[in-house]
Amino acid sequence: MTFTEPSDLPNPGSPDSANEFNRELDINADQAKDGHAASLEQVHKSESVGALIRADALVAGYFPGVNILNGSDLYAREGELVGIIGPNGAGKSTLLKAIFGLVRVSQGAVLLKDEDITNLRADQLVKRGVGFVPQTNNVFPSLSIEENLQMGAFQDPSRFKERFEKVVSLFPTLGERRKQRAGSLSGGERQMVAMGRALMMEPSVLLLDEPSAGLSPVLQDEVFIRVKEINATGVTVIIVEQNARRCLQIVDRGYVLDQGKNAYTGTGAQLANDPKVVELYLGTLAKV
Ligand SMILES: Nc1ncnc2c1ncn2[C@@H]1O[C@H](COP(=O)(O)OP(=O)(O)OP(=O)(O)O)[C@@H](O)[C@H]1O
Ligand SMILES: [Mg+2]
Repeated sequence: MTFTEPSDLPNPGSPDSANEFNRELDINADQAKDGHAASLEQVHKSESVGALIRADALVAGYFPGVNILNGSDLYAREGELVGIIGPNGAGKSTLLKAIFGLVRVSQGAVLLKDEDITNLRADQLVKRGVGFVPQTNNVFPSLSIEENLQMGAFQDPSRFKERFEKVVSLFPTLGERRKQRAGSLSGGERQMVAMGRALMMEPSVLLLDEPSAGLSPVLQDEVFIRVKEINATGVTVIIVEQNARRCLQIVDRGYVLDQGKNAYTGTGAQLANDPKVVELYLGTLAKV
């Protein structure tokens, strides 16, 4: 039964009809959702050709049979800054971890320059030019800044000096305070150490998980400026952010992830101005 004719509308006084009407609305909403998802998949298929890194229809989770990612797609072209936003628990960290070989992908594929890197170990990914800064515990607190950066270059210590110079040119404070223990640094400074460490192997792709979390607005701004600077050196950046509005201001393109699947995608400006994205994911902040 479809509600194409006004005469199909149920008598609002009848509970049965109302239930049926609501069920039809649900079915229509589901169909619209399916159509929306299918069109997002199409967009991904056509636009991701030739991307530097791409994740196609990833299904992944922490326990067998319990999927957290339910077919999420993502791509980044060389030099792009790509953002991922979405509610808590949407699977944003899981998506980055799945790309970085830390959560097992059961279906779908991750490709780097068209080479299949699905489920490769993190150290093998680092060798291939993928860097990752996790959301938490991303520095060695008992080690100095310099030692943290050494850890970043442990796969090729001969490059330490050259890379150290590069990293401290981006983050001068890290050079000035190289002997200071990372555990004694502020949250913002720790984020710089964590990003600096990931940059030690000169990645072509950097995955950043909520680098501005827990920081004051001023420090958050500094992180966003640094991320832009890193990206301007030619590093392709994929950033997960809880500060969704600010994230959409700096990225070239973004994804809204919801329940392990893409809900919306577009340029930062398109997403920030999409009434549905604003209503569902940016809240009142976006209306300021
Ligand atoms: N190590 C883990 N073991 C089991 N389940 C996990 C683990 N990490 C995350 N999860 C579950 O996976 C789901 C997605 O979590 P994830 O951390 O990817 O979300 P998120 O979008 O990054 O959220 P947040 O905005 O809070 O960081 C959640 O239901 C979470 O409980
Ligand atoms: Mg997370």
